[in-house]
Amino acid sequence: MCMSISKRKQEHIDIALSRSVEFGAKTNGFERIDLEHCALPELNWEDIHPEIQFLGKILSFPLMITAITGGFEGAKDINSALAEACQAEGVALGLGSQRQMLEDENHLDTFTVARKKGPDIVLIGNIGAVQLVGMKDSGPVRRAVERIEADALAIHLNVLQEILQPEGNTLFKGMLNGIERMIRELDVPVIVKEIGCGISREVALKLVDAGVKIIDIAGAGGTSWAGIESHRVKQDALARQFWNWGIPTAESLQVISEIESITIIASGGVDGGITMAKAIALGAHLCGAALPFLQAYSKEDAEGIVALIREWKEAYRMALLLTGCQNTDTLRNRKPLRTC
Ligand SMILES: Cc1cc2nc3c(=O)[nH]c(=O)nc-3n(C[C@H](O)[C@H](O)[C@H](O)COP(=O)(O)O)c2cc1C
Repeated sequence: MCMSISKRKQEHIDIALSRSVEFGAKTNGFERIDLEHCALPELNWEDIHPEIQFLGKILSFPLMITAITGGFEGAKDINSALAEACQAEGVALGLGSQRQMLEDENHLDTFTVARKKGPDIVLIGNIGAVQLVGMKDSGPVRRAVERIEADALAIHLNVLQEILQPEGNTLFKGMLNGIERMIRELDVPVIVKEIGCGISREVALKLVDAGVKIIDIAGAGGTSWAGIESHRVKQDALARQFWNWGIPTAESLQVISEIESITIIASGGVDGGITMAKAIALGAHLCGAALPFLQAYSKEDAEGIVALIREWKEAYRMALLLTGCQNTDTLRNRKPLRTC
């Protein structure tokens, strides 16, 4: 069983790095939104402060590298480089699904390396909601979170991926109960995330009712999981039909940002500092991205990740100045947007 999880994790990384896996016929929707230029910001470059507070720690700007991997041999180097870069640049890191870790300890170090390399980072654990269905005891999840010294646990919703995977788990009834239970029984906050199909307003409201306080949209427009699975599964024609399935990130963000009292992470095709600024102006508290940082790792290890984070940070700071916003809170509250 575990061999197959590890093998699958390896395949996901190999495919994401060697094949086309992004949405084609659908975009993240941010190209339809524009920031309003402010020709007279009355601010110096040094006055711009993009930092935010998240889970009790300071991020240098509102970015999280979201869940990518763990649980197979090659994952140790990837998570080590990601954590090193996040530590150096002051951004948050989500680890990939810890499901393999629940089965045995063969690849434990592929997860624990993150806290070693990132002692001060905001570190997020990860498990699938479908794994929580029918789980008798929350103890193993609690221990998995403790072992990696995570600040929070992300629970992912990946229904499309599960039904496309030959080895997928299709018992989806009870996922919400599982999430509710984790909120009750864990000592760390819970984040609920999609993996590339977005979250509708209705689903967000159900999650909020269940006690969820942090939602990561992971909308359509970036990595397509049907795309990844189409390279793996036998019924690839079926997977290809769903390649562009999902709610574009900007659209999902617009409907969810009307719900008060939740922290929103905007992800799914986020591709730089300007898109990040648009997302914050639309109501996100921080942004997330996965594939761009995996690609940066594959080119130049931790240095490649650091360089990309710096580029996004610089562009984000520029967007703050050019909209006349001194900090991230001002950008979110003032919403300097124009439709185009
Ligand atoms: C290779 C790869 C592996 C991923 N593994 C996980 C995972 O284990 N758990 C999870 O919640 N999301 C996983 N994701 C989804 C990402 O965290 C993210 O939600 C999604 O890729 C959308 O962001 P992007 O468009 O920036 O890639 C993975 C993404 C990639 C590219």
